[in-house]
Amino acid sequence: MESLSSISTSLPCGRAWVGSIIDKYYPADNKLRWILITHSTLVMKRAVSICDAHPELKMDRQFIIEAAMLHDIGIFRCNAPGIECFGTEPYICHGLIGGKIMRAEGYPRHARVCERHTGAGLTKNEIISQNLPLPHQDFLPETLEEKLICYADKFYSKTHPEREKSYDKALKSVAKFGEAGAKRFKEWTALFEPENVKN
Ligand SMILES: [Fe+2]
Repeated sequence: MESLSSISTSLPCGRAWVGSIIDKYYPADNKLRWILITHSTLVMKRAVSICDAHPELKMDRQFIIEAAMLHDIGIFRCNAPGIECFGTEPYICHGLIGGKIMRAEGYPRHARVCERHTGAGLTKNEIISQNLPLPHQDFLPETLEEKLICYADKFYSKTHPEREKSYDKALKSVAKFGEAGAKRFKEWTALFEPENVKN
């Protein structure tokens, strides 16, 4: 398990403030903190390797590292005992909660990544038609960095944080929110990992 004292200095992001925020909301050196850090680090690594493979997209590498490490900061306030979250809010709200935390911390650009990373983003219509407990508005990734972190996130669960999902499983995880999400995910595949595009 990642030790408590090492996180601020061991994060490969060169920005101690990211570790300080994780330390602030996940102070105990427990399984939840391990789940969060393991998951976020794997998402960050995949996103960074895609960023490095596509210099023509001119994405902000440093921002990708920071925002990928913080995208799930809101999970602790949710009720998801299977992944050691003993809060009260529905799990689907973790992005919105993370966004509130990051805005309160003074990082609105990072907050947007939190708010827009669930599924392949969620539209107002998807929220209404599936009766999801979220405000009736679009939560779609808009910038390339927002799309990239949302895309990379789909390859890793928090129930088995160390396992990488196959492309088909990642696609399945967004398809459960509807065909439109699957279509967005496929568009990002063509952009970020065209080798995964199937004819
Ligand atoms: Fe995530």
